[in-house]
Parts: sequence; C-alpha cells; structure tokens
Amino acid sequence: MIFSIQHFDTISSTNLYLKEHASHLPTYQVVCAKEQTAGRGRLGRQFVSPESGLYFSLLLRPDSIEKALIIPIIAGLSTACGLCKMTDVMPELKWPNDVLMHGKKVCGMLAETAPDGSIIMGIGVNLLASRDYFDALHLPHVSSIWLETKRRIDRLALLSAILEQIEYWLSVDTDALMKEYKAHCVTLQKEVTVSTGLCGTAVDIAKNGELIVRDELGALHSLNSGEVSISGMY
Ligand code: BTN
Repeated sequence: MIFSIQHFDTISSTNLYLKEHASHLPTYQVVCAKEQTAGRGRLGRQFVSPESGLYFSLLLRPDSIEKALIIPIIAGLSTACGLCKMTDVMPELKWPNDVLMHGKKVCGMLAETAPDGSIIMGIGVNLLASRDYFDALHLPHVSSIWLETKRRIDRLALLSAILEQIEYWLSVDTDALMKEYKAHCVTLQKEVTVSTGLCGTAVDIAKNGELIVRDELGALHSLNSGEVSISGMY
C-alpha cells in the first residue's frame, strides 16, 4: 500500500490538519479520525462528524493539472467500490462526489489545496448514526451505512478497502476511470438545477471531471465542481 496512516481519536478537521502540516508531510500521507469537531463541507458548509463515522484525508501531489482535476472523481468511485466490497450494496454517485445509498447521502467529500500546492482529498462516511440524529439536524436526505444496509462495518476495514481502490484508480487511465464513474453516476440524464440558476439536463461528464449540462435552448454548459451545487435530486 502506498499510503501511510496517522490516526486520531478527535481532531478539528482532517482536511485542516493536512492543510496546516502539508509542507513537512510526504505524498500519500493519510490522516484519519474517529470524530471531528469542526468538519468542513463543500461551499463553506459544516460537515457534522459524530463519533461512529469514518473521517479521513489524503495528501496528494499529482504531476499535472489533468490528474489533479480527476482526484474527486477517483475519490467518489473508490469510496463507492470500497463500500460495495464491505456491504454488498453498490452506492450511487451524485456528481461531483456525494455517495448515496437508496437516494440518501451517506458520504461527503471535499478537495482542497494546501498552501504548498498539494491536493487534500477529504472523505467522510456516516457509519452508524441514527435517523433521529439526522432528523434533529434537519438533514432528511442524509443517512448512514447502518440505516441503509443494517450492517455495522468495521471502520478500519472500510478505510483499507477505500484506500486500496484509490491506489488502483490512481494507476488506471482516465478513459477507464470515467467509464466506470459514469456507469454509477445518477446525475446523468437527470434534470438538474444548479446554484448559479441554470436549469437543464446533465448529459455528460468531461475528461476533466466537469459536468456538461444542456439548457432548455440546447446550449451546453461545463460546470466545475468547486463552483456549484446541484439540487433537485434528493
Ligand atoms: C460535503 O459533503 O459537503 C463534503 C464533506 C467532506 C467531509 C470530509 S470528512 C474528512 C474531511 N475533513 C473535513 O473537515 N472534511 C472532509
């Protein structure tokens, strides 16, 4: 395995930790925690991270922009494949990299750039949280692996299954990666509403990971995952 893993019981955020320490840590360093007190979500949101989940971040130094752009795609597909290995349920992928089971989000991901230019890929999986827990936070579309599969999966076994997949997909050519990602991506062929106001049909995912949306007039728009959120799917 190319990764070396540092474990914490509680941490503010595994992404933040790598951001602060990237300059003196090696490529493929992984930081994993049982609980985060200030989990970071996309678009400046908070990611609730109670004990009983799997929260980890990887430090990557891709050698080209093209490879950097597909890291979130690799993370989404690898997490789905790792979960499938552990639960026998293949999750759906909502572009850019939410992982869903039965239409509910069980995992979130956040790619960030460290001050030295390294890429930090953070992955959070809700393992055991109850329906009451998410309902109290007004998160009806969020769920956990326990709720969706009735399996209590071992967090470190899941971590290794996901890391094995990441190592594999990092070594595979982009065409094969995109083909597999698209096969599990439920955003494609759906009507989507983008946070920019654009409405249309998601028709494809480009080689650089951008979502291609066709609007009502037939014009194509390329959406970068860092800039937008998609609503209307759950
Ligand atoms: C989202 O769904 O908005 C993205 C959530 C990303 C959460 C993970 S948990 C591990 C890593 N550390 C963080 O603070 N965030 C990411």
